[in-house]
Amino acid sequence: MHAGLKPVFVDVDPVTYNMDPAKIEEKITENTVGIIPVHTFGQPCDMDPIMDIAKKHKLWVMEDCAEAHFATYKGKKIGSFGNIAAFSTYVAHTITTGVGGVITTNNQQMAEISRSLIAHGRACTCEVCLASDPRKVCPLRMKTQMDKRFMMVRMGYSYRIGELEGAIGFDQLENKDIIMGNRKKNAAYLTDKLQDTQDVLQLPSAPDYVEHSYMMYPIVVKKEADFTREALTHFLEAHNIETRPMLPLLNQPIYQEIFGDIEKDYPVAEWIDHNGFYVGCHHGMTTKELDVIIETIHEFLHK
Ligand SMILES: Cc1ncc(COP(=O)(O)O)c(C=O)c1O
Repeated sequence: MHAGLKPVFVDVDPVTYNMDPAKIEEKITENTVGIIPVHTFGQPCDMDPIMDIAKKHKLWVMEDCAEAHFATYKGKKIGSFGNIAAFSTYVAHTITTGVGGVITTNNQQMAEISRSLIAHGRACTCEVCLASDPRKVCPLRMKTQMDKRFMMVRMGYSYRIGELEGAIGFDQLENKDIIMGNRKKNAAYLTDKLQDTQDVLQLPSAPDYVEHSYMMYPIVVKKEADFTREALTHFLEAHNIETRPMLPLLNQPIYQEIFGDIEKDYPVAEWIDHNGFYVGCHHGMTTKELDVIIETIHEFLHK
């Protein structure tokens, strides 16, 4: 919206909670320019049909990978399907730099424009200029009429990431197998021990060709349950287990102000928003801590 585009929403799939590819084409008009699949909670979107639709209608694809670092779809990492992808490395995310993010693209021009945009729209996007590294000299220095280091060619932003964030990020990457592995192990443990709750709770599940990266552990209270999501989350919170709402989007006050009362037009998203929540499966959590979540859910259900 900041770029002057108008978002058009597509309802989600009731199992993966991601954009439902079967509902994309009915939303495409002659004004449509691109598709933004969001890989939610660590689960990749169904990329084959999404890419086919984009190709058919000549649309670009921008993947939102903020919640799904290192997740794969049919053996290919998310963030490598579309024209460009964005990853968040804000502190709540699996690989973090404290604050910041990463863009991936195979398009050299888009990479150059992105580098320029994060640094006030400057002309030179060489490594030396972007990092303002005083120990190195830009190869173009004093060779152009206006010093390219201080020449602005587009309206940009101040979105650079600093060395401190870079250092944290490199360290996180070195530990990525431990981070991602522990999260998957923790999620598998929760799923295994909560198997007996599946008549009332929908646990996360992924097809064989998808590797989920479990930024969190989403649960949805099924229609068959004789209790509300609030009753369960309040019980968990009262036992010192933090829960968070899953997908409040279409009913955000600012969206209501801009788009009106549209949540009811997206019944699956509405169902998840009103019945879903998530608990943690952080790589630092111990089996003992996971057991507290499992035992407390069982205690609630047997009350
Ligand atoms: C799916 C998704 N997209 C985008 C963002 C925004 O990321 P950032 O705060 O790094 O801009 C988040 C943050 O939680 C997210 O979960």
